[in-house]
Amino acid sequence: DEISIGIAIGKVILIGEHAVVHGQPALAMPFPATKVKTAIYRKEGSLTLDCFFYNGFFSEVPDRLLGLTTIIRDIVNSFDEKLEDFRIRIESTIPPERGMGSSAAVAVATIRALYDFFRQPLTKEDLFKWANISEKIVHGNPSGIDAATVIGEEPIYYIKGKSFIPFPFKLDAYLIVADTGELGKTQAAVNDVRKLIDLNPQKGRSLIEQLGFLTRNAKDAIESKDIVKLGQIMSKAHLILDKLGVSNDKLNHLVSVAMRNEALGAKLTGGGRGGCMIALAATKDEAIKLSNKLILNGAENTWISNMGVDGNE
Ligand code: MEV
Repeated sequence: DEISIGIAIGKVILIGEHAVVHGQPALAMPFPATKVKTAIYRKEGSLTLDCFFYNGFFSEVPDRLLGLTTIIRDIVNSFDEKLEDFRIRIESTIPPERGMGSSAAVAVATIRALYDFFRQPLTKEDLFKWANISEKIVHGNPSGIDAATVIGEEPIYYIKGKSFIPFPFKLDAYLIVADTGELGKTQAAVNDVRKLIDLNPQKGRSLIEQLGFLTRNAKDAIESKDIVKLGQIMSKAHLILDKLGVSNDKLNHLVSVAMRNEALGAKLTGGGRGGCMIALAATKDEAIKLSNKLILNGAENTWISNMGVDGNE
């Protein structure tokens, strides 16, 4: 019973989602509080794939795996091997469809496990290539930021098609991620932003440019360790994302709960229309307080991560 294991962690976009699809920069960071483990066992017979995803509780996920099954088939073919005599088991603590990089992380963990199982050397380029093939099937036309962040394992400053520049930073601050409990609708949101730009180019492009401007300011604020300013920039970005039409009532509600409870800033994260929001807090005590308030006010789950100060938890 040989076992190969592949691990990948989730991600959060700090700022720049949606604008990144239209050429603006975005800042994203890995989120080690959530992760995926893919294990491959030898077992005679046709291939079986068992997936257990966290959805408030662990549940089996038989559907929405077309991206994954496609790359599994193509990777195994590329090794001249057969899709039999092994079993794949995936377990993920990243809630799916919440803007936390679940699909990219599931793909990356599985690609790593497959290459290990078939004793093939895996380059970062191949990993990024396969992960994006899966992401395209799942999301249509993604910017690639999810796969890049999951693979990079450190914060990145990402510009579509150009670069993913590692942007390692340590901030004396805490990030709270809160799940609305509603499935995010990334592809619908991305399509609607495109429609808005087509119908009203002046308004659409201006909003996208404002987001790009805020992302560059956020980078400066992080470099000068100004967490108060970073928080303000995050809140401004949320207002613009709302104008772009990618927020919803529950996200707006949780953002205002965070701001009423002394968050330094708060915004939706990822594709929007559901999924998760993030809030910035100066201390661990404040982060815990905020997290409790968010749960009391309707968040389904929360995660706290320090921003690299004493190792992520
Ligand atoms: C999704 O995590 C981020 C979006 O910007 C879409 C993308 O970049 O592909 C909304």
